[in-house]
Amino acid sequence: MKIVLIGFMGSGKTTVARRVAAKLNLRLIDMDEVALQSSNRKTINEIFSLDGERKFRRIEFRVAKDLSGEDNVVISTGGGVVMNPRLMNILNKNSITVYLKTSFDTMKQRVDQKKIKPPLFKDALSARKLFEARAPLYERYADMIIETGEKQVDEIAEEMIDKMQR
Ligand code: S3P
Repeated sequence: MKIVLIGFMGSGKTTVARRVAAKLNLRLIDMDEVALQSSNRKTINEIFSLDGERKFRRIEFRVAKDLSGEDNVVISTGGGVVMNPRLMNILNKNSITVYLKTSFDTMKQRVDQKKIKPPLFKDALSARKLFEARAPLYERYADMIIETGEKQVDEIAEEMIDKMQR
């Protein structure tokens, strides 16, 4: 079984992926973490500022390719994967893709609480533009959509597992 979580930054992909992996006894793979390990930088922000977004996207694509043979995993993706159809083609093979759907305001609240802002969250206006451009892509690639709203992590994980078993 391969579960792939997609959604905008701040939608809780990694936290939910960790919970689902624990419940189903699957391995958690965080694409951002793997991308970071295969770079010579300390943070994703550093890759963006020192090497540029294009370099990050190349690393991200290679990570997706490297992970294509994985099974019994929950993969938490970076929010930008849906911008690359070739990457999504690879990720979507033999997997259940779940979109964690979060409103812009909830996402913004979460990001505002972070000390270190994600590189593509420069200001609310450009973040909203990005959000609006990507929202239809998340929907298009999703096999399942879960509205996260005010739900707790456990509730989201249970809803996902429940829907998969139906
Ligand atoms: C990105 C989201 C980040 C990370 C990178 C680019 C994006 O991941 O991959 O900063 O384009 O939305 P999260 O969605 O886990 O924050």
